[in-house]
Amino acid sequence: MFLRFFEQHGHKIVHSSSLVPQNDPTLLFTNAGMNQFKDVFLGLEKRDYSRATSSQKCVRAGGKHNDLENVGFTNRHHTFFEMLGNFSFGDYFKKDAIAFAWELVTSPEWFGIPKDKLFATIFKGENGIARDDEAYEHWIATGVAPERIYELGMKDNFWMMGDTGPCGPCSEIHYDMGPAASDAGHTDCQFGCECGRYVEIWNLVFMQFDKQPDGKMNPLPKPSIDTGAGLERVTAVMQGVISNYDTDLFVPLIKRAAELTGAPLETELKKEDEEERHHQAASLRVIADHARASTFLISDGVVPSNEGRGYVLRKIIRRAIRHGRLLGQDKPFLFEMVFAVRDLMKDAYPELIETANRVSETIKGEETRFARVLTFGLRELDSALGIGLSNAPAGPHYQQDKTPHFTGQEAFHLYETFGLPLDFMIEAARDAGIPFDMA
Ligand code: SER
Repeated sequence: MFLRFFEQHGHKIVHSSSLVPQNDPTLLFTNAGMNQFKDVFLGLEKRDYSRATSSQKCVRAGGKHNDLENVGFTNRHHTFFEMLGNFSFGDYFKKDAIAFAWELVTSPEWFGIPKDKLFATIFKGENGIARDDEAYEHWIATGVAPERIYELGMKDNFWMMGDTGPCGPCSEIHYDMGPAASDAGHTDCQFGCECGRYVEIWNLVFMQFDKQPDGKMNPLPKPSIDTGAGLERVTAVMQGVISNYDTDLFVPLIKRAAELTGAPLETELKKEDEEERHHQAASLRVIADHARASTFLISDGVVPSNEGRGYVLRKIIRRAIRHGRLLGQDKPFLFEMVFAVRDLMKDAYPELIETANRVSETIKGEETRFARVLTFGLRELDSALGIGLSNAPAGPHYQQDKTPHFTGQEAFHLYETFGLPLDFMIEAARDAGIPFDMA
């Protein structure tokens, strides 16, 4: 619907680019829809269209935008996600970008999201860059009530792709998911509260500058538009669920992960086992998310290795394997998830039909290689973390002893004796809520 809306408004539908950025050493993975248009914004490249729209594969795991550690424990963080966007290369600017977004989001012919659940933000002005008066006026002219427009600083309302490159002030559209979405149980908190109730669904960036390595903001040749809406979040809103993981983008993958690991689905566990339910559901979410990320990364040519992109991929695969073990599965299983990802996403990404077998074999190889380290190392790690044996006969246990701790000595022992990677242990300790004493 997003692509069709913008196509009807004169935008060219452009297929997602690879997750491996082409000719851009500043970027580990493609992390936004605008990446493939970076040189067009900078005026270095010309296209035969000045308006484009795309649904872009993105990975935010490593680099400036890194969500890896949050995945599984929140309703809306992902390592891999799809970013819907519309782009203007010196064509329209703030006025039309705001009007398009508001029409698509609120019109009953399109998304039809009630206006009284929406908020807009603008850049309040900071660090010598002026308040975005223009954006404010356009929101008002579009029909947004003044009390629903909030003004925020650099952190929230100024978007940069990396330390250098195209950037500019932005305006966001947020959706009120209601009190049930509050992780803190708030019933009457206001917009701006970070409890999970208010969700950013769309970011409209008004590209105006090219940031230099010395921090200088050079004006772009032509002011441009770059927007990004998280498909997973918008889907959650449209399907009336709080968590992205409860949408039809994830439910089939979570079901498959449960089958492959032998874990019960959240709904199948008894109420009494609240904590166990919580942990198992998180593990299934991690596996679903990481299966998508590793499938698309390998499909786009990344291979597991000890450095750079390959290392991030390896970390993602290993984290998924670890969560499989926490669910009681110590045999390779992740390679099977590849086919579930393919089946769910092949209409949008037909390339998966070609690559799935190769991807699956790569993951299986990684799972097999890592199995030895894990069989010995993980058992020790779990017991050092007080989580109980991950392959105990009765299945997973998450009981912690009363004073959870994990010493530097134990960590060093696991590294030296079993080859368990350091960041793996840091991560596992964090997942178990136990501080890691890096010093
Ligand atoms: N580049 C902006 C973002 O990633 C909008 O697409 O949020």
